[in-house]
Amino acid sequence: MSEIASTGARPAPLDVAQAYDRWAAHYDDNENATRDLDASVLRRAPLSLEGADVIEVGCGTGKNTVWLAKRARHVLAMDFSPGMLASARKRVTFANTRFVQHDIRDRWPVEEGSADVVIGNLVLEHVEVLDHVFAEAVRAIRPGGQFFLCELHPFKQLGGGQARFTDPVSGEVVLVQAFRHSTSEYVNGGIAAGFILRNIGEWRDAHAAEDAPPRLLSVLFESPVT
Ligand SMILES: C[S@@+](CC[C@H](N)C(=O)[O-])C[C@H]1O[C@@H](n2cnc3c(N)ncnc32)[C@H](O)[C@@H]1O
Repeated sequence: MSEIASTGARPAPLDVAQAYDRWAAHYDDNENATRDLDASVLRRAPLSLEGADVIEVGCGTGKNTVWLAKRARHVLAMDFSPGMLASARKRVTFANTRFVQHDIRDRWPVEEGSADVVIGNLVLEHVEVLDHVFAEAVRAIRPGGQFFLCELHPFKQLGGGQARFTDPVSGEVVLVQAFRHSTSEYVNGGIAAGFILRNIGEWRDAHAAEDAPPRLLSVLFESPVT
């Protein structure tokens, strides 16, 4: 992995939590094809959510949390940006959902084998070393459970794609610190941690040209039944 560095033409990226605190008030309203495609990818994923205990990492403003909460038994949603969490808490008020301010690079505040499904959407581009996330997901998920990831596609990253937003007041384009990850890093990271690979998805916008790089990569792992 390597940080997506700024060039002379691009401003220096902002610290991740600070950037999302600034973005939080507008995250749901800005035009954002990546956010919208991700929502649709998750809603088509073959996840066993009914009666499930779900952990969501990097829940943001709760765009996906609300959908998970309507299907699962319980959702624990983590994010380290207080601003994003404040929006999520307003959006998702179901009794079966708990939000926790937490940096997923630290040990997760969950018991071993306490989740049936873990999901992480558009979060790992901000995490430099993935091994810890895979290890924590393996620890948290029960045998036969699922780990679903959906991230900006590595081809998009190579083309300069990176989380960014335009500050509506100043008009400034703010780049959020991000790290390049390859498809093999995602896949082999999960396998090395002990998961079984079940599916890889490469997703384009509905009207994208056939030769356009995919916008998103999804990976579905399963925890082995021992
Ligand atoms: C692009 S948003 C995605 C939010 C949501 N998953 C979605 O799909 O709309 C990325 C989120 O990941 C969170 N995040 C990034 N790095 C994190 C970390 N190390 N620990 C916890 N949250 C993190 C950010 O605060 C932000 O809310």
